[in-house]
Amino acid sequence: MAKRARRMAQICENYRYMVTPAEIQEAAKILRSGGLVVFPTETVYGLGANALDAAAVRKIYELKGRPSSSPLIVHVASVAEARKLAAEWPEEAEQLAHDYWPGPLTLVVPKRSIIPDEVTAGLQTVGLRIPRHAVALDLLRVVDLPIAAPSANRFTQLSSTTAAHVREAFGEQTPFLLDGGASEIGLESTVIAVTKDGLEVLRPGMALVRNAISTIDEESQQAHRAPGQHKKHYSPRTRVILVNAGRLPKEGHGVYLSSAGPSSKHFPSQPMPTNAVDYAKCLYQVLHELDSKNLDWIAIEMPPKTPEWAAIRDRLTRAAY
Ligand code: TXA
Ligand code: MG
Repeated sequence: MAKRARRMAQICENYRYMVTPAEIQEAAKILRSGGLVVFPTETVYGLGANALDAAAVRKIYELKGRPSSSPLIVHVASVAEARKLAAEWPEEAEQLAHDYWPGPLTLVVPKRSIIPDEVTAGLQTVGLRIPRHAVALDLLRVVDLPIAAPSANRFTQLSSTTAAHVREAFGEQTPFLLDGGASEIGLESTVIAVTKDGLEVLRPGMALVRNAISTIDEESQQAHRAPGQHKKHYSPRTRVILVNAGRLPKEGHGVYLSSAGPSSKHFPSQPMPTNAVDYAKCLYQVLHELDSKNLDWIAIEMPPKTPEWAAIRDRLTRAAY
């Protein structure tokens, strides 16, 4: 265990940061007056606005450069609040909320009209989630409003798992930011539609839900009903090439990213954790870091086709598109 922690520390940052009650109050004040706030969650950082304020929500799309056809996730402080925003709250939703919240699972259910169309990109459903980061929960409780928040990055680019990533993405346009340390999970939440026909995985994440059917086709990268899941997404600026068994490009300068150790004398390699949980936590940090090095490519060894690696495979495939 101690050994694993040490190895992780070398691969990516694990810093913590104390947010003061005064900072939470300030963030709540900004949200109430229709402004944007960046806040930490256990998955990735969120770019938040009052989910009941259409004008505030429009500012999110503007700052991200995101098309208005991508729905946002609404973060709430309690299951009771989630129920208030849902037009239907099936037994399966109640069960999943009980089992996974607070945590990295988003439930898509029919929405009440109190949620503006801007939040859901005109869909009649809404994605709801209780995050488990202490700062996110404090903020939700203090502001006492649902917070609509996509990941805090520019459209199609890498999500932010540290405050530094957020500042890199938005520069001087960075809204008021609560620095809650490095994200514990490091990949976006699992998104599951709760329908009459059962549970459908719209985006795989590190929360693995048994009984949920994944309709995402790895080849086509398309899910049935996941608007906003673009083929190119979660991408560094540097070209990402997915490789098998260490077969690297012959030209250019690059780095080989793998859990299995170096593959070639000619190119440097970036060691990655061998288990999916630690790998997920470090992936975006490592990609952000490598992306600043002016490489021609980042070659990534494709992880195994097993359920615990599904979310990582999904993000890698999109990053390479
Ligand atoms: O972990 C996360 O989910 C992070 C943190 C901040 O909570 N948020 C996040 O949001 O990743 P975003 O906007 O980058 O991705 C949300 C995705 C959308 O692209 C879409 O695929 C799906 O969630 N989604 C949201 N609402 C939906 C809806 N009503 N129907 C179908 N898919 C929905
Ligand atoms: Mg995103």
